[in-house]
Amino acid sequence: MTLTLDRQDLMPGTHLIGAEWREASDGHRLDVTDPATDTVFASVPDGTAADARAAVDAAHAAFPAWRAVPAKQRAQILKRWNDLMVAHQDDLGHLISREQGKPLAEGKGEVLYAASYVEWFAEEATRANGEVIPAPVTGRRMMALKEPVGVVAAITPWNFPAAMIARKIAPALAAGCTVVCKPAEDTPLTSLALVKLAQQAGVPAGVLNIVTASRERTPGVVDAWLDDARVRKITFTGSTPVGKHLARRSADTLKKLSLELGGNAPFIVFDDADVDAAVEGLMVAKFRNGGQTCVCPNRVFVQAGVHDAFVEKLGARVGALQVGPATEADSQIGPMINARAVDKIDRHVRDAVARGARVVVGGERLRSARCDGPNYYAPTVLANADATMECSCEETFGPVVPVTRFETEAEVVAAANDTPFGLAAYFYSTDVRRIARVADALESGLVGINEGALAAEAAPFGGVKESGYGREGSVHGLEDYMHIKYVCQGQL
Ligand code: SIN
Repeated sequence: MTLTLDRQDLMPGTHLIGAEWREASDGHRLDVTDPATDTVFASVPDGTAADARAAVDAAHAAFPAWRAVPAKQRAQILKRWNDLMVAHQDDLGHLISREQGKPLAEGKGEVLYAASYVEWFAEEATRANGEVIPAPVTGRRMMALKEPVGVVAAITPWNFPAAMIARKIAPALAAGCTVVCKPAEDTPLTSLALVKLAQQAGVPAGVLNIVTASRERTPGVVDAWLDDARVRKITFTGSTPVGKHLARRSADTLKKLSLELGGNAPFIVFDDADVDAAVEGLMVAKFRNGGQTCVCPNRVFVQAGVHDAFVEKLGARVGALQVGPATEADSQIGPMINARAVDKIDRHVRDAVARGARVVVGGERLRSARCDGPNYYAPTVLANADATMECSCEETFGPVVPVTRFETEAEVVAAANDTPFGLAAYFYSTDVRRIARVADALESGLVGINEGALAAEAAPFGGVKESGYGREGSVHGLEDYMHIKYVCQGQL
């Protein structure tokens, strides 16, 4: 079944290189599948390395003029883009839900979340101040000026088809960079619609280019960008192995990198916590997008004194979640993105059970008249989880909550940090001294204290350790797209 939008031109069916919406250089197409039914409902160009190079040609040619556009004017274009995203929230929300599977309310919510980054960076564009440095000798003026890095390649994941691309493109354009981007093969439609709206907002030809490509052809597209010295920065959200590959392959041309990679977030509930608030915080943090977020809790640690009460309350809340397609208004958890994702979730659950976990609720694939497709998984709580289980070592990226009992603060902090990853961490406590101690001790780029919803455009988002480097959002998000030029004027 096709998708009907108020503005059907938001599904251009082609990708944008320079001024032209075009087919792939060899005419190949990529099917787009609805994860709820596993059926094809649209298609886009299956881009080639030649398309990728053409996109860099366009972005490189457009760079001198775009960087020279006054920041205020760039900001106005971004503000118009934000306004158009908000005005077309319904169409964009439907696109997101259809290609990604999240419930419609979440899809529409993601549009506003994405737009909030565009609005934020429109405002930041005009505040990219440099410095005048007091000179150590007379007759000199010393300045630190901020400049756009140049052509940026943005490579984005499928879990937030609008937000991830917006929070890369918006700071790049605000800084005066030009962009080539490639959305995930599962979710190209939302990105194409956003680029269409950016064009309508006044982003000039060549400043923003998009190449869509299948899983098989993505390496060709990305390699063309990695090999091209004109691409000065790669910004990527996705898995740690791919991030490491990009870092290695960028070394020859020493590109600047922002890497937002995998997580393995701990969620800790201490005996002194408000247990009801902790259950609610976990529901928010874990089940957003069906557990398909890099920041969602992957390991839940509950102190012995509140463990049983917590597991009971959590089991009741999780068991009541309504699973179904985005088209059903009451769906809270949609299908997973594809069969590979469901297989991984199921493998983690089977492994945990084989190693001694107890299924409190869920624990199986779902198929019913309502969940009429192969990609549904029941929201699951596992008790007796431990560090040997696959679900404790790797991101499950699905609606599974493994709970581990612990006794002491020292023990749980060591366990929380016992992972190569460090993106998000959460804990619930009412003890002010403990709150300060644990926040300091957690090795993580983001820490939620008595709070399950962390992300906001004004906050720096990014990881430590093998969760990557660079920050998105906040003032730091703009700096990632600029370098500093020191200018020293003598003979004054
Ligand atoms: C992510 O899953 O990578 C992003 C989640 C967020 O923006 O909160």
